[in-house]
Amino acid sequence: MKLDNDQLQRFHTEGFLYLPGRFSLAESRILLEEAHKVYQLDRPEIVHEASGVARTAFAAHTYNDAFGRLGAHPRLIEPVVQILGEEVYMHQYKVNAKAAFDGEVWQWHQDFGTWHRDDQMPEPRAMNIAVYLDDVTAANGPLLFIPGSHMDGTLPAGHDIETTSYPLWTLDRATVTRLATAGGIEAPVGKAGSVVLFHGNLVHASPPNISPFGRTIVYLSLCAVSNHIRRYKRAEYIAHRDFRPITPLADDCLSELAA
Ligand code: SIN
Ligand code: MN
Repeated sequence: MKLDNDQLQRFHTEGFLYLPGRFSLAESRILLEEAHKVYQLDRPEIVHEASGVARTAFAAHTYNDAFGRLGAHPRLIEPVVQILGEEVYMHQYKVNAKAAFDGEVWQWHQDFGTWHRDDQMPEPRAMNIAVYLDDVTAANGPLLFIPGSHMDGTLPAGHDIETTSYPLWTLDRATVTRLATAGGIEAPVGKAGSVVLFHGNLVHASPPNISPFGRTIVYLSLCAVSNHIRRYKRAEYIAHRDFRPITPLADDCLSELAA
């Protein structure tokens, strides 16, 4: 699945690209069922909210077959290789739950800020590609992006280890105000099966989920192979050390699971 020139242009200007309906409902349902099974596992990779519900499942591609296949899906790998101009490896993989009623905030941040400070990833030649497994709406804690904020480079950030159960390098209010006043804030809401790609320096956040509906999203954080991390401070299941390039599977690698 190659991106066309208009899509590439939009990605470079806005710092993200929303691609509705890239996976069928059948494909996203297979993965959603697996996500609910994964959240029940008693493993260190499953991080919980203060309330006890699952917040995220790290590295699910390493212990779940369906998520393993998604981690090498050509509809996700090929556009990122196209943008980065090099083969990619999996730096991080997570399935975020944002559970009904209990899913908590993700503060304003840039992912590359964390990858650089904690993992010594040299350059922002890495990015997220996310797949919605539930419908994402205004009510269930959608991703919020500040368009164009990736142009500002890597911004000063403070290490927030208190607000949620997961530590994050977050931006201060003055920085977010300046950037959002210039670029606005967009929420790419849409149906299960939709995909969103975003630049490692794009400023983003998500509010708590006040609704009775879950908001499960899978994130592949893909990094150019030559730009691999240099420091192994965080757990292997959070910042991976297998720098081998991903070979994409066949396009029907998920749908064949339903057969
Ligand atoms: C993230 O920014 O890494 C996750 C945000 C979310 O899932 O809402
Ligand atoms: Mn993030």
